[in-house]
Amino acid sequence: MTAAVIDGKALAQEVRSEVKVRALALAEEGITPGLATVLVGEDPASRVYVGAKQKACAEVGIKVWDYPLPSSTPEDELLGLIADLNANEGVHGILVQLPLPEHIDEQKVLVAVDPLKDADGFHPMNLGRLLAGDPLVAPATPAGIQEMLMRSNVEVSGAEVVVVGRSNIVGKPIAAMLLQKAPGANGTVTVCHTGTRDIAQHTVRADILIAAIGRAHAITGPMLKPGSVVIDVGMNRTEDGLKGDVDFDAAMEICSQVTPVPGGVGPMTIAMLLSNTVMLAGG
Ligand code: GUN
Repeated sequence: MTAAVIDGKALAQEVRSEVKVRALALAEEGITPGLATVLVGEDPASRVYVGAKQKACAEVGIKVWDYPLPSSTPEDELLGLIADLNANEGVHGILVQLPLPEHIDEQKVLVAVDPLKDADGFHPMNLGRLLAGDPLVAPATPAGIQEMLMRSNVEVSGAEVVVVGRSNIVGKPIAAMLLQKAPGANGTVTVCHTGTRDIAQHTVRADILIAAIGRAHAITGPMLKPGSVVIDVGMNRTEDGLKGDVDFDAAMEICSQVTPVPGGVGPMTIAMLLSNTVMLAGG
């Protein structure tokens, strides 16, 4: 069997075109959606991600408010900036790129963002609403995964969904989203993590496998169920270039649909951030 590759770039382009239409409608009402991006420090990967998000904003008509800060920025200075952005009427969404430097309490910063301007959906109020099945904004990567599944006609309802990884950014929110009794969800969700005794025992049962581990090719062929759908969230820099968490060649032999790395989940994450921002601006 040769799997179909889920083209994240093409699907993201569809979403971006739709977001652009929504942004144009807002512009006709005199509203320019605005996203503030806050990057503390010089981490090269974070700079690339933030740069890609800013470029995508410009293409759909979202104004970027750019705040690159030195890694030595004191926590209270960052909290002060967030308070200013919360009060700034031209800013509809605020994104604080993670990870933050060690001396800054990440949770304190995420709580400081106005939940109604929380473009990333990382505020505990928004995570709570997600869990309760009444979301305002969903975190961009999980939202992108759900959107990809829907646009690729993958039936989640009734499926065995196995998520590997329990981060606050991906694993926990995607698990919460896909178990809701809602369109594009209603799956039977298992979450594996570093405390799981035998991960393969779970993954071989997965109709839909979502790998968000952070280790190149941690998921090998024998761990996959024939005919399953694989969503690879991994972005691992190796000597051989950027690699996902799943052995892509093996998955192509065994599965029915597979997301590539790069060109899979990454572009969808950016598209959903744009969608969240325009929604927060009223579109
Ligand atoms: N770091 C890794 N992924 C993300 C993301 O989606 N948003 C933010 N703000 N930081 C991240």
